[in-house]
Amino acid sequence: MDAQLGVHWTHRLRFTTRVFDPGNVTLRDVLPDAAEDPARVLAVIDSGLAQRWPKLEEQIRRYADAHRSRLSLAGQPLIVPGGEDAKNDRSVFDSIIAAIDGAGLCRRSYVLAIGGGAVLDVAGFAAASAHRGVRIIRLPTTTLAQDDAGVGVKNGINALGKKNFLGAFAVPWAVINDVEFLTTLTDRDWRSGLSEAVKVAVVKDRKFFDAIARAAPRLIARDLPTMGEIVHRSAELHLQHIALGGDPFELREARPLDFGHWSAHKLEQMTGFRLRHGEAVAIGIALDVTYSALQGWLSEPERDQILAVLRGLGFEPLDVSLCKADDLLAGLEEFREHLGGRLTITMLRGIGQAFEVYSVDHAIVIEAVSRLAGEAGQNAPTVNGSAAVTPTHIRVSSRLSERDPDNQLQQG
Ligand SMILES: NC(=O)c1ccc[n+]([C@@H]2O[C@H](COP(=O)([O-])OP(=O)(O)OC[C@H]3O[C@@H](n4cnc5c(N)ncnc54)[C@H](O)[C@@H]3O)[C@@H](O)[C@H]2O)c1
Ligand SMILES: [Zn+2]
Repeated sequence: MDAQLGVHWTHRLRFTTRVFDPGNVTLRDVLPDAAEDPARVLAVIDSGLAQRWPKLEEQIRRYADAHRSRLSLAGQPLIVPGGEDAKNDRSVFDSIIAAIDGAGLCRRSYVLAIGGGAVLDVAGFAAASAHRGVRIIRLPTTTLAQDDAGVGVKNGINALGKKNFLGAFAVPWAVINDVEFLTTLTDRDWRSGLSEAVKVAVVKDRKFFDAIARAAPRLIARDLPTMGEIVHRSAELHLQHIALGGDPFELREARPLDFGHWSAHKLEQMTGFRLRHGEAVAIGIALDVTYSALQGWLSEPERDQILAVLRGLGFEPLDVSLCKADDLLAGLEEFREHLGGRLTITMLRGIGQAFEVYSVDHAIVIEAVSRLAGEAGQNAPTVNGSAAVTPTHIRVSSRLSERDPDNQLQQG
């Protein structure tokens, strides 16, 4: 007997500012109405965020108090390490599982995950695993988390040296983007998530790409309303693809939202995660855009335009030089394995016009790497790893590999 299973989810995406102001009802209103018992909520907070928002825990407590008919805090908020460590160190996942158990959460309770994409990924995986699925509400607090990661249905951690090797698909109960959280990001994290907006624009929406191009100087100048608009459209496009694209759990081969990601994931690993995901994605986009141009699919002016926008957003150099080519190319097979089925890579034939290819010409990838290296004023890559070339020789911008000392904004 074959049976068809249809399951319906509602994905609630909201945009607001000052989400924990007691007068703000956005969070309250995504919870079931007052006819039910108050929702039990365990907050899991990114340590990097907690450091910059020292009053956050207190604000959450006051918020819960003001809306006690709808929301009750289950246990103390749990602070977990922010950044990729959250996904690399298995004990972070275990600590969230233990907190869910300690707080006695049931499948109708909520984990309220507040932080960057890494913390959302691990908290989401823990929530998806405990009791086979506790509800999760995400409050993304980085550009990347608000314009991409927080909106998605993927959760996971890194394992066995591979990005997102362990994880689960789970639709969040709600995602609330509060753009004010972005004010305390370093310049590096402020801009790094913009590559995902460029990605979704070049794959799906020419007009949005033009809007990003026009907005670039204001984005770099940290204009918050402009950032809010770009994040909004990017999040919307990501959600539209997930909800209306007909393949939310990625059962088919094509994954246009992973444009530029086959090399990006590899670059993150090969740099020991010194590159932010968003930075690696910018380089990955540059590589696949250049590959598309070398193949004659994408016009040279459009290729140059995409690279100019990435550079205008501060992604420089867009360079994969000195990496061991074999290691980079192994990223193709790892990507295929992660997707399942045959290799399927998204390429461009125009801005906003994506299509799929089922094989990749290694020599042309190397040519693309070489061209980017030349444009970045670097040496050409070494093919098949000469003695001097090891994964640790991947050249990444020193600007990208150091934390920004600027932006010392304090939040009260
Ligand atoms: N699940 C998905 O669909 C999906 C999609 C894209 C990316 N991702 C994942 O997201 C991760 C990257 O996320 P990211 O770019 O948000 O980086 P991140 O989570 O590593 O955060 C970067 C840094 O910002 C800090 N931080 C967070 N919010 C802050 C704030 N408001 N003010 C100051 N500091 C703050 C963090 O503590 C961390 O040090 C990667 O692991 C990537 O694989 C997941
Ligand atoms: Zn990504």
